[in-house]
Amino acid sequence: MTTEGQAPLAPPARKRLFIRTWGCQMNVYDSARMADVLAPLGYAPAEAPEGADMVILNTCHIREKASEKLFSELGRLRELKKEKASSGEKLVLAVAGCVAQAEGAEITARAPWVDIVLGPQTYHKLPEMVARASRAAGAVIETDFPVEDKFDHLPEVAAPQGVTAFLTVQEGCDKFCSFCVVPYTRGAEYSRPAAAVLAEARRLVAAGAREIALLGQNVNAYHGEGPDGRAWGLGRLLREMADIPGLLRLRYTTSHPRDMDDDLIAAHAELPMLMPFLHLPVQSGSDRVLQAMNRGHGVAEFRRVVEKLRAARPDLALSSDFIVGHPGETAADFAATMALVREVEFPLAYSFKYSPRPGTPAAGAPHQVPEAEKDARLQALQALLREQQAGFNRSRVGMTMQVLISGPGRHPGQAAGRSPWLQPVHLPGDAAALLGREVPVTILAAHPNSLSGLLAASEGGHNAQPREEPAPA
Ligand code: SAH
Ligand code: SF4
Ligand code: F3S
Repeated sequence: MTTEGQAPLAPPARKRLFIRTWGCQMNVYDSARMADVLAPLGYAPAEAPEGADMVILNTCHIREKASEKLFSELGRLRELKKEKASSGEKLVLAVAGCVAQAEGAEITARAPWVDIVLGPQTYHKLPEMVARASRAAGAVIETDFPVEDKFDHLPEVAAPQGVTAFLTVQEGCDKFCSFCVVPYTRGAEYSRPAAAVLAEARRLVAAGAREIALLGQNVNAYHGEGPDGRAWGLGRLLREMADIPGLLRLRYTTSHPRDMDDDLIAAHAELPMLMPFLHLPVQSGSDRVLQAMNRGHGVAEFRRVVEKLRAARPDLALSSDFIVGHPGETAADFAATMALVREVEFPLAYSFKYSPRPGTPAAGAPHQVPEAEKDARLQALQALLREQQAGFNRSRVGMTMQVLISGPGRHPGQAAGRSPWLQPVHLPGDAAALLGREVPVTILAAHPNSLSGLLAASEGGHNAQPREEPAPA
């Protein structure tokens, strides 16, 4: 964690907190909130577990490898805890997030040196759990889905998140895709009221945020209560967000193709500050597999959504998620995925081998795909996706685009930021002077995962759009 800032009240004692975060951006947001709720107890951020009085591991359960990381880290922390104990110091060890939710009891059985286990819906209770852990001998476990809203129990004073801030607006999922643990670890779909979201957004902007990414496991299923008492969709919420003075950019993630309604698509045409980049996971290009996955749409519907989005915002670039080797996926199904990728083009995408997750329908399904076949398909898909990413990055060379500067680059005298399409951009410049500003940058070179360029001579408009629009992909 790199959150900085002062607790609102004089802290009772200076303690250090280290949080390690795995998984999605919602976990990143949750980690920041856990730091916020512990700040009044005197916990300030530590750079490493070695210097900490408390360590929180915020975990992810999405694939097998993701949860294995927890147990290897716990092994290392056991040694650290012993070392500290031998010099009379205490280390409070907490496991949070989706593995905690799914495997609470197993964690304390396999790693009895863990003090606190808490699910994603209970982190507002952390101060109380820390107090209980210091009194009790065994582990304190909180993995219920409480009826009260954790968001109502968060401190209003939060540590600044930087130029780009995350804001969770929706949580949980009712879609139950065959392969996925999220409905079990995060619970039922829930949308925060619009007024609470807007108030938090204004606080983030006051603390220096210039770009806000609205987060949710199914963010475009957002249907929070508006001040008018009616349910607001995400399009409506984005239009209100766009009126916040000082905010330059908006994004949202992760969307489901099924929930991409016309009002939200229209917002892409209306709001220049809604960035022309959308993460829209499709998982597979085969109707048969999409059906087996219980995704609730076919390839034709996905295509239609993409066409409408591109009509609304011609410079839109898409990113996506793919799973190869879902049970029952044949070579022909996989070929259909490759064909869809070639047709649509994804300048950025994440692809995974199907990983059976305990308790999900696909884990027990017949026709599991052999590991070697999954490996071969993943390699072929990733090679194609890498090519598309490199091609997209090359297509930006020569273009002058707005870059939001978020900090120094890796080298002295360098500033770094993001393009409208989320590409990291490096340029010579005074990072401190440019911080939080959108500046026009002429792109001179493309690298596999980033761009580099020079501040354009005519450093113009504040919230101007890219001067040159890319050709529709
Ligand atoms: N809500 C989003 C996805 C959230 S999970 C959606 O519906 O698209 C993030 C990604 O992890 C998924 O898009 C999927 O590609 C991947 N994933 C989820 N479960 C998986 C599993 N069991 N094996 C491999 N990849 C998985
Ligand atoms: Fe998981 Fe499907 Fe829900 Fe996405 S929509 S979180 S993949 S169950
Ligand atoms: Fe992982 Fe939980 Fe996010 S399983 S991807 S941390 S919702």
